[in-house]
Amino acid sequence: MLPTSSVGRKLLMAFTGQMLVLFVIAHAAGNSTIFFSKLNTYAAGLKALPLLLWAFRAFMFAVAALHIYLGIVLTLEDRNARPQGYAVSKHLRATFAGRNMIWTGTLIGAFLIYHLLHFTVQITNPSIAAARNADTLGRPDVFQMVVKSFQQAGIASLYLLSMIALGLHLLHGIQSSVQTWGLNNDRSLPLVEGTGRIAAAVLFLWYIAIPVVIVVGIVK
Ligand code: HEM
Repeated sequence: MLPTSSVGRKLLMAFTGQMLVLFVIAHAAGNSTIFFSKLNTYAAGLKALPLLLWAFRAFMFAVAALHIYLGIVLTLEDRNARPQGYAVSKHLRATFAGRNMIWTGTLIGAFLIYHLLHFTVQITNPSIAAARNADTLGRPDVFQMVVKSFQQAGIASLYLLSMIALGLHLLHGIQSSVQTWGLNNDRSLPLVEGTGRIAAAVLFLWYIAIPVVIVVGIVK
C-alpha cells in the first residue's frame, strides 16, 4: 500500500503535509470566532454533527500518522545517504528551519498530545473544563476555558513556544511541499519560496493572536 520508492514517499509526505496545512488554516479560522465572542456557537456547531466529526477526526488522524511515519523514514534515509564529510557542502543552501524539520515536528507532536488533553479531553485543568461549565445558553463554555487557560502565564508561554515550532515547520514545509510536486522552475522558485514563507508567517501570527489578546486583556 505505501510507496516503495523514495520519490513516492516524498510525494505522499508533501500531500499529507498539505492536508495538515489545510486543517491548520481551518482551525485558525474556527478559533477566530473567539474575537467575536462566538467560540461557543462554533464549538456547539461542530458537535452537532457527530458522525461527520468522527469521520473527519479518523481521516485527519490517519493523515497525521502517515505524515509522522514518513517524516521519520525520510529523515533516516536522508542521513544514511549522506556521508559525514559531504554534509557541510550539502547544507550550504539549507536553512535552519529546513535542517530541523524532524525536531520542530516532534515538538508539534508533543504539543498536540498536550493540546488534546487540555482542550478536547479537558483533563489538564478540570476546574475550567468546558464540559463542566455551561455558558448562559447552557452550552459547554469553551470560550471561558480558553480565556482562563491563557490568563495563566505558564500555559500562554507553552502555546507561544509551540507556535514558534509550528511557524518554523511551516516556513520550510509549505514551500518545500510545493517544490516536491515539481511546481517550480528557475523562474518561479523565488515566488514559491516567498509565498510559502509569507503563508507560514501569516499562520504563525494568526495563531499567536489568540493567547496575545488574552494575555494583554483585550479578550477576557
Ligand atoms: C492558540 C492556538 C490554539 C487554540 C486557541 C486552539 C483551540 C482549540 C480548541 C478550543 C479546541 C477544542 C474544540 C472543542 O472541542 O470544542 C481545539 C482542538 C484541537 N486543536 Fe487546537 N487550538 C490552537 C492551536 C492548534 C494547533 C497549532 C493545532 C495543530 C497543529 C491544533 C490542533 C487541534 C486539534 C487536532 C484539535 C481536536 C479537534 C477535534 O476535537 O476533533 N490546535 N483547539
